Amino acid sequence: MSFITESIKNIKTVGTVTRSSKFLCKKMVEQTDFEDAKVIVELGAGDGVITKHILKKMPKDATLMVFEVHPEFCIALRKLDDPRLIIIEDTAEKIGEYLAQNNFTEIDAIISAIPFVVVPEAESYRIVEACKHYLKEMGTYVQVHYSLVKKKMYENVFGNVDISFVPLNVPPAFVLKSHKM
Ligand SMILES: C[S@@+](CC[C@H](N)C(=O)[O-])C[C@H]1O[C@@H](n2cnc3c(N)ncnc32)[C@H](O)[C@@H]1O
Repeated sequence: MSFITESIKNIKTVGTVTRSSKFLCKKMVEQTDFEDAKVIVELGAGDGVITKHILKKMPKDATLMVFEVHPEFCIALRKLDDPRLIIIEDTAEKIGEYLAQNNFTEIDAIISAIPFVVVPEAESYRIVEACKHYLKEMGTYVQVHYSLVKKKMYENVFGNVDISFVPLNVPPAFVLKSHKM
């Protein structure tokens, strides 16, 4: 219930009132092979539904840096209490600043649920371009959307995008995957 309450209060930044289904979470994490990953970043973690799937799959010595702007969701994220988790209660736009603070220079994989459909275009581009900048070569950027209106942005930034459809989610969702070439 708290996800629904928080989402309704902040619908312009949360972008939906339901958290991702287990089918969607699984589809998001299966896009990336985390086996040799050292640094994974999640954007727009909400109360941590995808975060838990990432933590289950990632190596014991890797770090998961999670960005979430809403304080209430960050309280829930801190309860996950995993030493591999770094919770950033700030916008993903500052990804470079927080990577530097933690002495990380590149990211192996990024998983994002930021609702770019409701984020101003220039800000969306700044975030996705910063993600590409810090991804390692052939690193993956995975994004969930409920429509394909933003597909062009990933084509423009990464030059490639693969799409999967997940019907078992409310609403049905698309998972977009791009590589840094
Ligand atoms: C659609 S919800 C996804 C929540 C959860 N990951 C899930 O899959 O159910 C999007 C989340 O992105 C967060 N968000 C929106 N803009 C953001 C930004 N610029 N930086 C970090 N998080 C942001 C919202 O607060 C919200 O929790």
